[in-house]
Amino acid sequence: EETKSWKKLINIAVSGAAGMISNHLLFKIASGEVFGPNQPVALKLLGSERSIQALEGVAMELEDSLFPLLREVSIGINPYEVFQDAEWVLLIGAKPRGPGMERADLLDINGQIFAEQGKALNASASPNVKVIVVGNPCNTNALICMKNAPNIPAKNFHALTRLDENRAKCQLALKAGVFYDQVSNMTIWGNHSTTQVPDFLNARIKGLPVKEVIKDHKWLEEEFTEKVQKRGGVLIKKWGRSSAASTAVSIVDAIRSLITPTPEGDWFSSGVNNLLKLVVYSRSVYTNGNPYGIAEDIVFSMPCRSKGDGDYELVKDVIFDDYLLKRIKKVYMPVSFWCKGDCSSEIREGFQGL
Ligand code: LMR
Repeated sequence: EETKSWKKLINIAVSGAAGMISNHLLFKIASGEVFGPNQPVALKLLGSERSIQALEGVAMELEDSLFPLLREVSIGINPYEVFQDAEWVLLIGAKPRGPGMERADLLDINGQIFAEQGKALNASASPNVKVIVVGNPCNTNALICMKNAPNIPAKNFHALTRLDENRAKCQLALKAGVFYDQVSNMTIWGNHSTTQVPDFLNARIKGLPVKEVIKDHKWLEEEFTEKVQKRGGVLIKKWGRSSAASTAVSIVDAIRSLITPTPEGDWFSSGVNNLLKLVVYSRSVYTNGNPYGIAEDIVFSMPCRSKGDGDYELVKDVIFDDYLLKRIKKVYMPVSFWCKGDCSSEIREGFQGL
């Protein structure tokens, strides 16, 4: 009779499944921590030719764990096969940056992977698949992927900025001397890169505007902002490789935010299709639709709310001041600055800064 409450099996595909981030993430998914205790899952793991042995090892460990909710584990190196009927796809596999690199330096290597995976999603995945892009530079990779998957709603593609949101909440909580759960309404605007804008104007601590609680506004503008922007790079320097456990946790948070109703009055950040941004801006300072005269077709982190159905809407009642606007504008950069490689023409003409 226990089986009666079980939901229908869902297919979850994960790329880079033999990597460090996945090694933290897969066991959380299999345990029910992510999709809930009544949700059986099938894990479809995508690796590369080089990683296939390791992938077999990961599958063995998953099987040996006897997770009651894990009904199927399959592995493969062909994204067209692995993404078949997937309802969630977590694109983690990509070359990570090393010390001294910017995430943008990875575009030439990783852009190609995401073009191919976008095509595979378009051909094989469930038509309403939700895609979370983690491999860097994740906003641009998400855009490339989205462009190559025209049959999938553009709004279903997310670039992970939840890690930045979590980092920002942690720093604000430490500064204010409160537990991190007292920090809410934390928006990361823009890209998952050093141009990102952690928004302390709209964020709240114990329900109050951050600037009322943390009186040192210079700290907010300078130290706090830079700390969040550069956290990933500092971690690489210290650890010798990029964040893995905290990234996995933030992927869990990102998924859970889409499948559970957002608490009243709060929101979460996700990198989503910029076309939606116009809604936000038309309600506030910008009334002419396209504030910067730049291409609209980008993936940009913004505040979102969900009813818990896997979908989301943008939060409209955010405020802007000169500081925030100036910072947000810096996110953009003419595409000629970065697109040296093999980007498709639509993306070459776009303005997805890095
Ligand atoms: C992070 O923010 O930790 C990841 O994006 C890895 C990186 O390159 O910083």
